[in-house]
Amino acid sequence: MRTRKAWIGLSACVLALGLSGCRTDMWVQQRVEAQDNSEFYAMKEPIQGFDGKIYGLGSRPIPANTIPYGRLQDPNDPFLTGKDAQGNLLRTLPPQVKLSKELLDLGEEKYNVFCSPCHGRAGDGKGMIALRGQWPRPVPSLVDQRLVSQPIGYFYGVATNGFGIMYGYGKRMTPEERWAVAAYVRVLQLSQNANPKDLPEEDMMKILESASNTNTGRQIATRSEGQ
Ligand code: HEC
Repeated sequence: MRTRKAWIGLSACVLALGLSGCRTDMWVQQRVEAQDNSEFYAMKEPIQGFDGKIYGLGSRPIPANTIPYGRLQDPNDPFLTGKDAQGNLLRTLPPQVKLSKELLDLGEEKYNVFCSPCHGRAGDGKGMIALRGQWPRPVPSLVDQRLVSQPIGYFYGVATNGFGIMYGYGKRMTPEERWAVAAYVRVLQLSQNANPKDLPEEDMMKILESASNTNTGRQIATRSEGQ
């Protein structure tokens, strides 16, 4: 009795498997494997692989003189080049980028991710890699007077294309993000070259009040009196 039940169970399973069908259509149908040769779209200049086959493209090539939808951009747009029509570095943000707290927050985030390992969180060139690494040329401080006097387009340009032995970040960040980083470099520069006179009166008063109590307050108060 037991064996009979077991047999019935087993044949039911086999039948179910059979009915569910090990159909192979999907497996054998024409398809393009990743990185595989396809004869579907020919390449402009055919490439012969190591296997002797002529290689084609797996995806349809973009027809000549067309631009993917939503990607229409003027390659000479100052937003992309960081330079005006005469080729001078921009002294202000391009019209597409608005100065806002959000922009500076974005710049801070991206700067800390991409630049601070070398240039330091404060921009002083004392990032962990700079301190530990052996560099053919030292990692410069971004808050030095020499760089404070550079137009903002300079930082966008270096962030995009790199500088000397430093590689560029044009492919790792969007143009907007690179402008945000450039704007944030200005924040760092200001943070370390600030003039107490630029403070609103209210904040200045607070510092003067605390001047008698703290060392820093006293220093700032003396600095602002001297200027
Ligand atoms: C891997 C380390 C490293 C990272 C990361 C890095 N830099 Fe640099 N940067 C350097 C070095 C080294 C130099 C000097 C290159 C030279 O003199 O050949 C340099 C030079 C510069 C200069 C030019 C200064 C001058 O002398 O005119 C600027 C501006 C600058 N970096 C900004 C940035 C910004 C913005 C980022 C982030 C997007 C960044 N760097 C990321 C290492 C780095």
